[in-house]
Amino acid sequence: MSNRNPPHRKPAAPAVVPRHVAVVMDGNGRWATRRLLPRTAGHKYGADALKRLVRGCVQHGVEYLTVFAFSSENWKRPADEVGALMELFVQALQRETPELAAQGVALRFVGDRAPLQERMRELMRQAESTPVEHPRLRLNVALNYGGRWDIVQAARAAQAEGVELTEESLARHMCLADIPEPDLLIRTGGEHRVSNFLLWQLAYTEFYFTDTLWPDFDEKSVAEAIADFARRERRFGRVPGKTSPDNGLRVA
Ligand code: FPP
Repeated sequence: MSNRNPPHRKPAAPAVVPRHVAVVMDGNGRWATRRLLPRTAGHKYGADALKRLVRGCVQHGVEYLTVFAFSSENWKRPADEVGALMELFVQALQRETPELAAQGVALRFVGDRAPLQERMRELMRQAESTPVEHPRLRLNVALNYGGRWDIVQAARAAQAEGVELTEESLARHMCLADIPEPDLLIRTGGEHRVSNFLLWQLAYTEFYFTDTLWPDFDEKSVAEAIADFARRERRFGRVPGKTSPDNGLRVA
């Protein structure tokens, strides 16, 4: 008989849905290359996969979704690929913002906007100010984002406030400080790395890696990742069943 629940896993409890899911959408280039298509075609199909992910998250009752669309390091890609990605973002914003609002999806961007074209920044502002009356999902798009950049900008903001640098004062200034930290990080494309995504916010996040290339990630893949999360036991550094907020043994 196969052991479907190894000892470190709890039996499946599908009702346990992560409130906040973060996703590194990796594998667009390889997906395209395998089909003898230009890498940019992979990004286009990747945009369709993102729409499926959003639908899946709404269906499962995920409240927050944060996706890594463009990292601080992605500028190092060939200029034509960077240009095509920026154009894809512009088109997606123009086309999808009203549709997303109609689905109850509120958009927000995180990252350094300064190097982006004004046309893009204006679309981002418009998308963020599009009213969504009763949001079912808050979609955060990380664009020109880097986890180290985030920590540095938070440290600078805390310093400008003149407060002592502590875990709490820094946390208050991190991007997405006003929402729960991610419960689940999904990375597609077979790589097992964080790649400078949400370094601070992922401290207690459950990681889910899959070989599926991003454009192939579909509703079934979303359901599988959420089901896997439901089997995890999250301890946050504690011993299960023995919660003792102060056992008097902490070293000062
Ligand atoms: C990584 O795959 C993917 C990206 C750098 C871009 C992510 C963008 C999208 C999914 C497009 C849709 C996004 C929005 C917000 C409309 P890769 O190119 O590194 O793939 P590879 O590892 O196979 O080369």
